[in-house]
Amino acid sequence: MTGLFSPLQIKNLTLKNRIALPPMANSLSDDSGAVTDKHIKHYVRRAEAGVGMVIVEHAYVRRDGRVDARQLGIHDDALVPGLRRLAEAVKACDTVVGIQITHGGGKATQATAGGPVLAPAEGIIPGGAEPAVALSTSQIAEIVAAFAAGARRALDAGFDFVEIHGAHGYLLSQFLSPLTNPGSLEGRLRAPLQVVKAVRALVDDDHLLLYRLGASDYMPGGLTEAEGRRAAGALAAAGVDMLDVSGGLNGSQPPDWDKKSQGYFVPMAAGVRAEAKVPVVVAGGITDPHAADRFIREGQVDMVAIGRAMLVNPDWAARARAALDADA
Ligand SMILES: Cc1cc2nc3c(=O)[nH]c(=O)nc-3n(C[C@H](O)[C@H](O)[C@H](O)COP(=O)(O)O)c2cc1C
Repeated sequence: MTGLFSPLQIKNLTLKNRIALPPMANSLSDDSGAVTDKHIKHYVRRAEAGVGMVIVEHAYVRRDGRVDARQLGIHDDALVPGLRRLAEAVKACDTVVGIQITHGGGKATQATAGGPVLAPAEGIIPGGAEPAVALSTSQIAEIVAAFAAGARRALDAGFDFVEIHGAHGYLLSQFLSPLTNPGSLEGRLRAPLQVVKAVRALVDDDHLLLYRLGASDYMPGGLTEAEGRRAAGALAAAGVDMLDVSGGLNGSQPPDWDKKSQGYFVPMAAGVRAEAKVPVVVAGGITDPHAADRFIREGQVDMVAIGRAMLVNPDWAARARAALDADA
């Protein structure tokens, strides 16, 4: 039976188990956005403990999409050698590694963006701090091209996959939400699908395209789970190899989660998986290896991502193996 330590094959890539480190911003860069030795140490420390897949934290594809002055960047070719050092160090741990590429849209500030704050519509978005200027069609095309250029840098640096950030209220999540981009679901999906198609064209069978989908806003008038599932189907049809399911405008935690429960996004992710028919990874409140193993055995999701628990305990994967072996 398929469990937490079963390998997973997607296209020509084999993941040695079903444990992922989800993208988690470290704010370890300087104003240039470059990789530092601290980044490498952080990721290698966790990969060495037996993580199957590492998703490196959100890296901005253009300076005006930066949300934190110390955020990692992927907006400039000069950053590729540092990114290559990071990718190679994690791959040396027999871990599949990718990087999340992002534009912050209306969640940036003029100070972090170095210019006007840009969003699908003008005004302050939920979770934003400053009024944004509405993007024109040609400006959207330039951002799509910036995502493609960021993906190309990731592949040049040797990453196994690219994850497009479409969750947590950042730009592509702003496009998908009716609260920040009124209109039909088809219209709201236009820019996210343009990004997927532009990146897809660069990804061969030895590499993967992941999309982190904020599949529900958990806000009145916001994106619903039913719409999130339809969006997932459209993203998969456009060529996404794996969906990473999380929250939308409201962020990476539902507002009313029971802190004692495990895997608060697992039911939503299982619904996405059934609709989109591509492998699904999910993070969110998973700390117990037995629960993680159960989510895989029950076929609800294909991989689990362990975020905060792996920040606290870098050896989570090794300890999970020991805990599950002790039961066998
Ligand atoms: C410090 C920190 C930084 C995060 N940065 C990112 C990020 O860069 N991109 C992203 O998609 N999610 C980010 N998240 C959300 C996590 O990937 C994950 O979805 C969330 O922590 C829930 O999973 P957990 O309960 O296992 O921690 C971050 C979370 C934390 C705690």
